[in-house]
Amino acid sequence: MHHATYPSYRDLFAGVPKPFAYVDLDRLDTNVQKVLDYSGDKSIRVASKSIRSVSMLRHILDQSPRFVGLMCFTAEEAVFLSTQGFDDLLIAYPTWEPTHIQQVAERVRAGCQISLMVDSLDHITHIKRIAQSEGVQLPLCIDLDMSTSPYNALHFGVWRSSIRSADQISALVQAIQSSNHLILDGLMGYEAQIAGVTDASPGSTLMNSIKRHLKARSLPVVAQRRAALVAAVLAAGGQPRVVNGGGTGSLKTSSADPSVTEVTAGSAFYAPGLFTQYKDYDYSPAAGFVLEVVRQPSQDIFTCLGGGYIASGDAGPDRLPQPYLPQGATLMPFEGAGEVQTPIHYRGPEALTLGSPIFMRHAKAGELCEHFNELILIRDGEIVDRVKTYRGEGCCFL
Ligand SMILES: Cc1ncc(COP(=O)(O)O)c(C=O)c1O
Repeated sequence: MHHATYPSYRDLFAGVPKPFAYVDLDRLDTNVQKVLDYSGDKSIRVASKSIRSVSMLRHILDQSPRFVGLMCFTAEEAVFLSTQGFDDLLIAYPTWEPTHIQQVAERVRAGCQISLMVDSLDHITHIKRIAQSEGVQLPLCIDLDMSTSPYNALHFGVWRSSIRSADQISALVQAIQSSNHLILDGLMGYEAQIAGVTDASPGSTLMNSIKRHLKARSLPVVAQRRAALVAAVLAAGGQPRVVNGGGTGSLKTSSADPSVTEVTAGSAFYAPGLFTQYKDYDYSPAAGFVLEVVRQPSQDIFTCLGGGYIASGDAGPDRLPQPYLPQGATLMPFEGAGEVQTPIHYRGPEALTLGSPIFMRHAKAGELCEHFNELILIRDGEIVDRVKTYRGEGCCFL
C-alpha cells in the first residue's frame, strides 16, 4: 500500500485545484477485507448513507458475493438507486411522505426488491392504504428497539423504535399478515450504543473505559432481546427473509449473534475520524478532503479557505474535521473549522506556504460527499479516476 505521508500525498495531487475530496482505493480495499473478516460468514448490507456515491457503492459490492444489498437512508434514494441497477434495497428509517411511498410502489411493481421500515401500527396502516390504491404488495421491515437501560438509570442507545416486547411485535406481524398488500420481509435491530459509540478516543481514558463497560453490559441484553423478538415473529407465523443487525463498530459481536442473518457496514469503508477510535476495530483512513493555505497570519498559523464540514449528531468537538497531514497539524481551539476559513497550527518539518495543501478527515463517513461533486480516486500512488458523489449527480436526499 502507498505510504500516506505529507510529501507523497502533496506530490500525488500536485496540480489538482483545491478544495477537493479523495478516496485512497488501496486503503478502501483493505477496509473491505477487514469488514469481510470481522463479519464471520454473515452476509453484509452496505449502508449507502456512509458512501453517497454510486460508483463507490458499485466498487464495494463488486468485491464479494457476501455483499448482498444496500441499506438506504430515504425512499427517494432507494428509488434512485433502483433505477441505477441496484437491487435488494432496505430503507432503514420510516417513510411517511405518500408520494415517496408511491414511487417505491412503482419500483416494486417493476420487480425491484425494496423494503420500507415500520415500527408501529400507524406506519403499517398508512403504507397499506397506499399499497392498496397502487395495487401492489409492499415488503416491510420491522425496526426493533435495541437500546438498553444500564443500572435502570440511563438510556443507552438511540430513540427510534418502541418495539421491544413479544406482544408488541406479534401485533405488528398480525397486522401485516392480515393484508394482501403487505408482506413481512425483514426485521432490523441496530445496537447503536455498541456500533456507533467510540471507545478508544485519544485523551479520553476515563470516558473510554466507562463506554467499554456500558457496551459490555449491553451486549447480552441486545442478543437476548433480538433472539426473543425473532422467536416471537416466528411464533406469530412470520417468516422474515432477513434479520439485520449492527454496524461498522459492532461487526464482530453482531455477526456472532445467531439470530442475525446479515450485518450492516458503511462507515468502515472510508473510515472517517470517529471510526478509527474503536478498540476492537482497525480501519484504515481511506477518504479525506484537501484545503488550500491562503494566509499566514502568524509564524505557525496557516489559514485555509473553507473547511467547516461539521459532522451531525451530538455536536461536540469530536464532530469537527481534523487535520490528517502534515502530521502534527491541529485546529485552533476557539475557531475550529469555519464556513469561510480554517486556521491550522503547524510547527514541523514540512515547509508550508501559501497554496500548500492541508489534508483533512471528516468525523463521519458519507457526509463528506455532501460538500463535493466528485471524489478523486488514487491507487498505488497515482490518480486513477474521478467519480461523482450523490451531489455530483444532482441528488440531495437528506
Ligand atoms: C439502522 C442502521 N444500521 C446500521 C448503521 C451503521 O452504519 P455504519 O456502518 O455506516 O456506521 C446505522 C448508522 O447510523 C443505522 O442507522
